[in-house]
Amino acid sequence: MKSIEWIDGSVRLIDQTKLPLEEFYVDTRDYRVVADAIRTLKIRGAPAIGIAAAYGVALAALESAGSSMELFLQDVGRADEELASTRPTAVNLFRALDRMRLILGKADSPGRAKSLLVEEAVRIHREDETMCRLIGEHGASIVPDPAIIITHCNTGALATGGSGTAQCIITTARSLGKSIRVYADETRPALQGARLTAWELMREGIDVTLITDGTAASVMSRTHVDLVVVGADRIAANGDAANKIGTYALAVAAQYHGIPFYVAAPTTTIDPELDSGKLIPIEERSAEEVVEGFGKRTAPPGVRVYAPAFDVTPASLIAGIVTETGIHSPPFDFHGLRVPASVKTR
Ligand code: MRU
Repeated sequence: MKSIEWIDGSVRLIDQTKLPLEEFYVDTRDYRVVADAIRTLKIRGAPAIGIAAAYGVALAALESAGSSMELFLQDVGRADEELASTRPTAVNLFRALDRMRLILGKADSPGRAKSLLVEEAVRIHREDETMCRLIGEHGASIVPDPAIIITHCNTGALATGGSGTAQCIITTARSLGKSIRVYADETRPALQGARLTAWELMREGIDVTLITDGTAASVMSRTHVDLVVVGADRIAANGDAANKIGTYALAVAAQYHGIPFYVAAPTTTIDPELDSGKLIPIEERSAEEVVEGFGKRTAPPGVRVYAPAFDVTPASLIAGIVTETGIHSPPFDFHGLRVPASVKTR
């Protein structure tokens, strides 16, 4: 399963809002369609969002008819701005755009810029694929045999350019012969756990049980759970980790029950410029997703809604952060992580 592909100058992505009932693909040469797909969750998950943004810039470059570098930069700059405005929390998006801008600075003609930008976007995608594999390999060591695991949201192939992050740990451990059972939180309100994680794990032949978000603590108290593993959208320098709303509650419950809580993410999700999670911008989604998520009204008209898409789990609740470089143990300190210079601007 590929969440997104670059095919001869166009982007193909699977529309995740239609899963699991329909496998519908969006094919486009228009960066505006890619920006809309990010905004509307057709493509989602921090690493996949970054890859989509990079391909969006590549599409804008190919679309530009600007004959001078000045006109070309205006066209690509407009796309960069639109893509940057889609979703604020996953830092992978801004990292990818920064990389595209840095490459653009190396070109002296629109023709040269076009090929450099396409190459860079494909490179960002390929690098993510490798990072996923390494996260899976490092992370498999935290999974006992047999293991019962709780996860939240969707961190599989759909969310990345490879085999996933937290979910790749699960599938890699299984491929090593470990016996694994997973409880997947449904993940209100957009149901990434129910629609996407349950679907992906079932396709992989992994024993998965779907639970509502509120059931996780009860499962921990009534069943032996070995670990919780989730992804992240932005990790601050001190290890505080923003992830899908509900993750923090899961981490609190895990600590209460003495269950290790792990975060898995590529280093492209770490933002060393932010000292703590308090500084992570948290996206708020529309009330509609809560009161009328899938076409059926489920709350009284006019009710006030608070709908943050993410929450921040403090580093003190995290047993380890698995990245492509290995398993980082507390106390976390990512201040020294090298990132492109322009990341500071976002
Ligand atoms: O709103 P979403 O679906 O983009 O949120 C996704 C998550 O919170 C994932 O857990 C995170 O991006 C990690 S994906 C490998």
